[in-house]
Amino acid sequence: MIALGCDHGGFELKQEIMAHLEKRGLAYRDFGTYTKDSCDYPVYGKAVAKAVASGECERGILICGTGIGISITANKIPGVRAAVCTDCFCAEATRLHNDANILALGGRVVGPGLALKIVDTFLDTPFSGDERHKRRISMIEE
Ligand code: RB5
Repeated sequence: MIALGCDHGGFELKQEIMAHLEKRGLAYRDFGTYTKDSCDYPVYGKAVAKAVASGECERGILICGTGIGISITANKIPGVRAAVCTDCFCAEATRLHNDANILALGGRVVGPGLALKIVDTFLDTPFSGDERHKRRISMIEE
């Protein structure tokens, strides 16, 4: 299960991502926001981060205007590793090296074509499992 969340700056891109996940046959849960009205990104960042940290959802995708505010919020929840990605190289590297469990996107930064490629790269790349990366990830939580 993939947890989705956004504010008004990410609302339109979230609609594209939901349609894409449906085409791929991937289950998701939408934690809001559900309209284009101005709202507060921490509400949705926290809801998705808690769903991922608790194990209710395996991965999360968060979208605000830049991806920054919502990822800063998500990273406050222990166990969450949220990464803002603006390209596929970063999406692949953050899975291989950081075992990132939440992808953050900027709805005002990346267009839908690139965003969906980033989503696919993030979802389809496994963690490398390398000892040095495991060690570094455990050091984040110390
Ligand atoms: C909302 O205007 C905007 O500040 C928000 O979407 C996000 O970019 C914050 O980091």
